[in-house]
Amino acid sequence: MIKDKFTKAGFILAAAGSAVGLGNVWKFPYITGDNGGGVFVLVYLLTIVLVGISVFITESYMGYKTGQNSVSAFETLAVNNKKGWKIAGFTFVTALAILSFYVIVIGWILQYIVISLTSLPSSVAEAEQVFMTLLTKDLSSQVFYFLVSFAIIAYTVSRGVKEGIEKMNKVLMPTLILILLGMLFYSMSFDSFSKAFSFLFYPNFEKFHAESILVAVGHAFFTLSIGMAVILTYSSSMDSDTNIVKSSVIVAVLDTVIALMAGLVIFTILFNAGFESSQGAGLVFITLPALFYEFGAVGNILAVSFFIALAFAGITSAISILEPGVRYVEETTTISRVKATYIITAILIVAGLISLLSNIEGYSEALKFGSKSLFDWFDYISSAILLPVGGIITAIFVGFFADQNILKQTMCKFISEKVYGVWLFSIRFIVPFGVGLVMIEKLGLIKF
Ligand code: TRP
Repeated sequence: MIKDKFTKAGFILAAAGSAVGLGNVWKFPYITGDNGGGVFVLVYLLTIVLVGISVFITESYMGYKTGQNSVSAFETLAVNNKKGWKIAGFTFVTALAILSFYVIVIGWILQYIVISLTSLPSSVAEAEQVFMTLLTKDLSSQVFYFLVSFAIIAYTVSRGVKEGIEKMNKVLMPTLILILLGMLFYSMSFDSFSKAFSFLFYPNFEKFHAESILVAVGHAFFTLSIGMAVILTYSSSMDSDTNIVKSSVIVAVLDTVIALMAGLVIFTILFNAGFESSQGAGLVFITLPALFYEFGAVGNILAVSFFIALAFAGITSAISILEPGVRYVEETTTISRVKATYIITAILIVAGLISLLSNIEGYSEALKFGSKSLFDWFDYISSAILLPVGGIITAIFVGFFADQNILKQTMCKFISEKVYGVWLFSIRFIVPFGVGLVMIEKLGLIKF
């Protein structure tokens, strides 16, 4: 058992810090736009409730019960075949792969804080040029901001759970929420707010296709940080009288509310300028900066606040993705936490630099595989395949292969037997079959 623990509120903040990330602000609005607005939001909310929260609770249970890193947690809880189940704990390796590209985006965001202060692009065409130059030509400043981001993240993790992770989240999360609230109130003064509202909450079936369901499922996993040992690891450092069900629900609600708030703000600004809803990934770095420019000096303030909020969201998530790998090394070898952090970070920096290069002119051809760049492949493979698979394995493991008496006893401290029955049914059947089916369909193996 480790002694370095979160306080009760600290755990909720840190887990919410993990969940609320670039995904909420950067990904959620544009996939919502691409997939028909309100219908997509509805399907997404259903997946959060039906599978997201159940898997979140499952991971929390594993960490809470063992107080160990993910690999040891699977080993400890497995009734049989302990050595085999240990392998499932290594999903944090994928989390680390996600981290290498996630930090690249955080680097862009830091750079955009500077751009917002000094020189917002005056048109979408100019904004596109600024971003494309940054992405495909400006290797040195991309590398610089990438390294700065990694330094902040690694330093925080190296300081430990309470002194590093909890403290950082206690500052960044409330600030992020205040900034978003401020922007939300400001956007309510626009006529386009009501259009944004109905876009998000009224279904439009035209753009919704079967594939949208997989996007929703993948995003539910991504946004709740489940399927990669992250929540498991954070939960292993929680105070022993934390209520794991209550805290899971609070985190899921916070995450969802913040995604919807970000969506409302972003769509209000877009619709105000007469833009269509779907904008692709360029939304945050191309369209929004150009639109902020239209507001004059207020625009600079809006833009800086927006990118600071985004950076904070990203940093608190990145910290949570680094922690599982560090905890594994710290607990299973003689290497100290600080050393473990820096060794892992060094490896990730090399990986990150390669995917950074994959966008740079002159290198991109060599680093393109099929239709996607290395960077896009990372994103796609991790969120559409690896996260759901990780979630399914965790659900099946706890649902069938961990000691069921202990499971019931522990969980019934937090929920009634009836609710327990529903949750168990969900992790035993709904998660594996539901999520599995959606994935198989999407990957083209069967057709409905
Ligand atoms: N939830 C974060 C977001 O929405 C990303 C994230 C943090 C994540 N930790 C994770 C994704 C672990 C997958 C696994 O951006």
